[in-house]
Amino acid sequence: MGPEPTSPGARPKLKDAQAQIDWLTAALRWYNHLYYAKAQPEISDADFDALMRELEALEKKYPLLAHADSPTRMVGAGARSGLPPMEHRIPMLSIENAMNEAEALAWLKRISDDVGDVELICEPKYDGLSCELVYENGTLKLAGTRGDGKTGEDVTPNIKTIASVPVHLNDTSRKAPRRLEIRGEVYIAKSDFAKLNERLEREGLKTYVNPRNTASGSLRQIDARISAQRPLSAVWYQVANPEDCGLTSVKGAIAAMRDWGFRTSAEMLAGTKLKVQTFTGAEKLLEQYRAYAGQRNELPYEIDGMVVKVNDFAVQSELGVRSKSPRYLLAFKFPPQERETVCERIELQVGRTGAVTPVAILAPVKVGGVTVTHASLHNADEIERLGLKPGDTVMVHRAGDVIPQVLKVTNPGGGNAFKFPKRCPRCDSELVKLADEVVIRCPNHLGCPAQMLGAIEHFTSRTAMNIEGLAEKNIQQLIDAGLVKSTADLYALKNKRDAMIELERWGEKKADKLIAEIEKSRTPTLARFIYALGIRNVGETVAGLIAGDVGSIDGLMAATEEQLNDIDGVGPVIAGSVVRFVHDEHNEPLIRQLQRHVSPQAVKKMAAGEGKFAGMTFVFTGALTKFTREYAEAMVRDRGGKASGSVSKNTSYVVAGEKAGSKLKKANELGVKVISEDDFAALL
Ligand code: IVH
Repeated sequence: MGPEPTSPGARPKLKDAQAQIDWLTAALRWYNHLYYAKAQPEISDADFDALMRELEALEKKYPLLAHADSPTRMVGAGARSGLPPMEHRIPMLSIENAMNEAEALAWLKRISDDVGDVELICEPKYDGLSCELVYENGTLKLAGTRGDGKTGEDVTPNIKTIASVPVHLNDTSRKAPRRLEIRGEVYIAKSDFAKLNERLEREGLKTYVNPRNTASGSLRQIDARISAQRPLSAVWYQVANPEDCGLTSVKGAIAAMRDWGFRTSAEMLAGTKLKVQTFTGAEKLLEQYRAYAGQRNELPYEIDGMVVKVNDFAVQSELGVRSKSPRYLLAFKFPPQERETVCERIELQVGRTGAVTPVAILAPVKVGGVTVTHASLHNADEIERLGLKPGDTVMVHRAGDVIPQVLKVTNPGGGNAFKFPKRCPRCDSELVKLADEVVIRCPNHLGCPAQMLGAIEHFTSRTAMNIEGLAEKNIQQLIDAGLVKSTADLYALKNKRDAMIELERWGEKKADKLIAEIEKSRTPTLARFIYALGIRNVGETVAGLIAGDVGSIDGLMAATEEQLNDIDGVGPVIAGSVVRFVHDEHNEPLIRQLQRHVSPQAVKKMAAGEGKFAGMTFVFTGALTKFTREYAEAMVRDRGGKASGSVSKNTSYVVAGEKAGSKLKKANELGVKVISEDDFAALL
């Protein structure tokens, strides 16, 4: 496993791509770590995405400067095998299943016939990936997946990325044996799964189908840094060697695990109607089952049943193991959350970012206690994969909170194949599909009603036009009241003061404050204005680079892909994205409209003979550690200077890195000024 990420610190002011890439890489790792491993995100998803896009853009332009394990390469990466094996000292057995109440009662009768009335205890049957942890002298030494029960895969570094896995056992009065073997389940919580998919969808990447497979794929990564980026959680339910710990019951084992610092079912069920408690008898067993089934959809993680355990280990031994599964355990499964229904039609939904998602409109059907009327089909590829046509009978699956899914077509209805429309159902813009995305988008970011809220939110955000007082709900109110139909309309709000005052919870003060804020925003920097437009792949840094080149709104409108592509830090993807955006049939008139209201501060374009380093020549020698040579030279040129490969008496500065040799000698001979990398950075 790589070192634990640390805070990236302040962002370097240098425009140097290597420094920016290094910082963005460190920052994204850190935010990922906070988000996934620590579950304490420090920045919004939107800000995270903006950083990610900046890094992607820089890496595209300067592939050689990218880190091999860059966060941009990890999201959406699939599972790989090839992990080292891990032997289970005590085999990890499977459990007998009961698919209905009769089977569960038959199990109870069989064991009661053998050993009399038994004390039972139930836990959720977590729907994840079972794993074993091995501690030696209180420290986590080894972690493995179940595998075939005898040999699993060694996922030690990966497991350590999960916050709820203690690396050291709590030092309590409860003594742990020299070797302790703990078993449990690694899973992804419903909301984490939904968030992960939302993000992938926003980024135009393929989404995951279900939390269990995603958890399994995420844990079983060769590179634990990928695991660290996935929102894995874990719960622990078994001490495999209880006799070494002096434990005599399931209940006692749970208490011991809690003391050592493991998350157990006691924590997992806290705050619900369910409790980890012992009971006896068939009636109570069914009562428990019904309670679990009733709570299933309320739990923030997926369970696919209830595990019934004989509480007393001595009784467990008496019952023993038969045909690979212990007689003292039962997996009492829930009926599958799958139902058949008819897909009546396929509609398109336009999201806040313009992503156009096909949705299956279903004949209402109850799945897992909830009526399902529609299911996202994600993208055109998915419709094709399913072979879905309107009118088909389909199998629908609902995994907890996770949006319902169409699993397969069970009976074709003979309808016509769905043709993905060419135009946006909300604003009639021509839809686009970018080469590197699966998602189809409505490009009318500034004018499409479906994207309006998001566009205005971004436009007014602190790092963009910085218009305070426009929380999401306020923007929604303005849109709903018909006061704002586009970002440009914000500047006409001062003429609609009376209508604003009338809005619920507004009043004079709030309206006046907002009007003043909007007035204040009329002279942004050009960089902020470009960033505020919300062009895909154009984060703050890139907006700054573009602003420096184009100089004005007119310059932006006139810029060609070639011209933009020539900017240091801007590659063909960004260049294409910008030109497409500003010349979109809806965006262009809107930008022109905005131009009447805002006057971005002019940015002076540098002509030959201008700039800080005009007339100066720099020579770089030795190993540079802060910048690549290519970069340092680009920075010199950006400032009007010349970078040369050889030292002469006309050289203004020799920048000497480590192990500088002949050029340094020559500079000294000629009396040319020699400076360090730090000195050079200071000159910038
Ligand atoms: S006890 C012999 N408790 O379900 C294995 N297992 O279908 C003893 N599972 O392999 C495990 N939740 O991976 C136990 N609360 C729980 C569980 C649980 C999920 C898994 C376990 C087992 C599988 C059997």
